[in-house]
Amino acid sequence: MSLPGRFITLEGGEAAGKSTQIARLAARLRGLGLEVLELREPGGTPLGEKIRHLLKHDPDGRGMAPETELLLMNASRAELVRQRILPALRAGTVVLCDRFHDSTVAYQGHGRGLDLAAVDSVIRLAVGDLRPDRTLWLEVTPGVAGARLAGRKAAEVASGTAEPADRFDEEQEAFFARVARGFRQGLEAEPDRWRRVDAGGSVEEVEEAVWSAVRDLFAVG
Ligand code: TMP
Repeated sequence: MSLPGRFITLEGGEAAGKSTQIARLAARLRGLGLEVLELREPGGTPLGEKIRHLLKHDPDGRGMAPETELLLMNASRAELVRQRILPALRAGTVVLCDRFHDSTVAYQGHGRGLDLAAVDSVIRLAVGDLRPDRTLWLEVTPGVAGARLAGRKAAEVASGTAEPADRFDEEQEAFFARVARGFRQGLEAEPDRWRRVDAGGSVEEVEEAVWSAVRDLFAVG
């Protein structure tokens, strides 16, 4: 699918720094005079944000079947694609999305162990032929991710802004190891689309690595 805009997705495990890096990349692209839309998944539409709450925080979501999780992720995605992503890409906007379909392959496919062909067909229903122009895997070691998560939690508690419990944050190390394997397999299967970014450095170092991984999509020297 070839549209005037550019579609870039950031993937990775928890505490990889994706949202910080999306904000920095967006600022840099706006500095070049480009229109930029920042989105996140699940979410990004009014309905999608409600689905996000069900998936992450609602007590009624505890213990939901992996198949339910797969379908809810893709219900949110179907809305996001039709309401926001496609119109923006048609208008020539750069769309930066914090997670997209590769998270479903990694989390519901590899993490939860759902059949990968079934996962693929649900994704296809939600997004059709739309695929990112570039996907970055922000990789951090489990040790760095654990330390960042602990730091984030402590800061939230200290400032009284702690988020409600998150079903995904409660998963064990083995789950996140399978998720990382899913991202690695994506990278190996589609090396033209994917770039791996070492996200263990400082915010500034990672920002430069992110820029190096996408700049060829833009006519800049
Ligand atoms: P985050 O916005 O803090 O990354 O939270 C989103 C959570 O949802 C994260 O744990 C990854 C998970 N997720 C999936 O399991 N499948 C998906 O398709 C997407 C988009 C997210």
